[in-house]
Amino acid sequence: MECINRITKIKGCITVPGDKSISHRAVMLAGISKGKSVITGFLRGEDCLSTIACCRKLGVDIWEDQGSVIVQGRGLYGLTEPEDVLNAGNSGSTMRMMSGILAGQDFVSVVSGDASLRSRPMARIVKPLREMGAAIDGRKNAGLAPLVIRGGSLKGISYSMPVSSAQVKSAVLLAGLYAQGETSVIEDTVSRDHTERMLAYFGANVDVRGTKATVKPSELYGVEVEVPGDISSAAFFLAAAAVIPGSELTIKNVGINPTRTGIIDILLNMGADLTLDHIRTAGGEAVADISVRGRKLHGTEISGEMIPRLIDEIPVIAAIAAAAEGKTTITGAAELKVKESNRIAAMVAELKKLGVAIAELEDGMEIIGPNRIAGGVVESYDDHRIAMAMAVCGLMAEGTVEINRTECVAISFPGFFELLAGVSV
Ligand code: S3P
Repeated sequence: MECINRITKIKGCITVPGDKSISHRAVMLAGISKGKSVITGFLRGEDCLSTIACCRKLGVDIWEDQGSVIVQGRGLYGLTEPEDVLNAGNSGSTMRMMSGILAGQDFVSVVSGDASLRSRPMARIVKPLREMGAAIDGRKNAGLAPLVIRGGSLKGISYSMPVSSAQVKSAVLLAGLYAQGETSVIEDTVSRDHTERMLAYFGANVDVRGTKATVKPSELYGVEVEVPGDISSAAFFLAAAAVIPGSELTIKNVGINPTRTGIIDILLNMGADLTLDHIRTAGGEAVADISVRGRKLHGTEISGEMIPRLIDEIPVIAAIAAAAEGKTTITGAAELKVKESNRIAAMVAELKKLGVAIAELEDGMEIIGPNRIAGGVVESYDDHRIAMAMAVCGLMAEGTVEINRTECVAISFPGFFELLAGVSV
């Protein structure tokens, strides 16, 4: 439980923990590479630790040295049959992307996770992986984990994705490393492309043209990966500083991959005073320092192709939209219902408890601002991003916001509350 009180402003210069998506991919690709990889800036959040634990159970040696994570890769065909269930914990990325690798292995693996993960849809990866030749079983015809995967002897496919999902795209591309012929994934709306970038960085034969990514069976080689700060973690601080007048905040070394920067575009649309400096590239990914100065914001509309570019930031956008002037409408975001919690229902219910004018839509929400945000007791739904979004509400509220079950923030952002206290004035 955490209690958050109103602050006058946010002030400071900080860094945030490493990018969750990139950290998962770095360990997985390093594990199936030839030679050693050195990963700096790795996120030591529970989700990425689940990925490390799964890779270790598959025979990969992983250790720490002077703050870096070192992975001794076993090559594409060097993984060994796990003796026990692979536990992905709360992490959809671990379960879905790992399943792509497991589909290529000539052995049996069982993948499971916590109650939230066991309720999340898996048919979306099972369908294409079965088409490629993997034998997969599980509850509800493998619609739900635990999944039992007997892999090997895959053939390449061309797969048009019905929903925009980087996890599904990644699972298919990773399986494609093991498939005969080439494997393509075609998306309607482009989702985050870290896997494509990182495959190329590890030396794989990968080709991206518009909304189509193609991979051919290829050996990967160990590399040094520098993981930038996670823009999805930075988002809580950027959003709070943008909406609280008088704030001045710089976050150094944040990943600004264009498939992830919807939050920057939306803050600017809402009238935020935000700048990017020192733009550079690290490990095939764009990185920058982001500065924001707080002022009054106004409502906005978010829909369509923008959604995948800020899908994880919608809870915090809803939080600051409560304080912004006018209407904010978010549509086309039905995927939020199958995240770590139903994030539409969760944000609507909890913001209502604080007196915010918010309505649930079938595929999003509508918020009318500005609201006087009241204090109150709210729930996290054991969802890290709901807990942190509610903390941002607390910074603006007239009374104390008491958030129950906040341990979940360690999934993606260990040290979140301490960092927040450190920049709160
Ligand atoms: C992720 C992709 C997104 C995102 C998740 C991480 C990834 O999910 O919500 O937090 O690392 O590929 P989908 O791919 O299901 O949209």
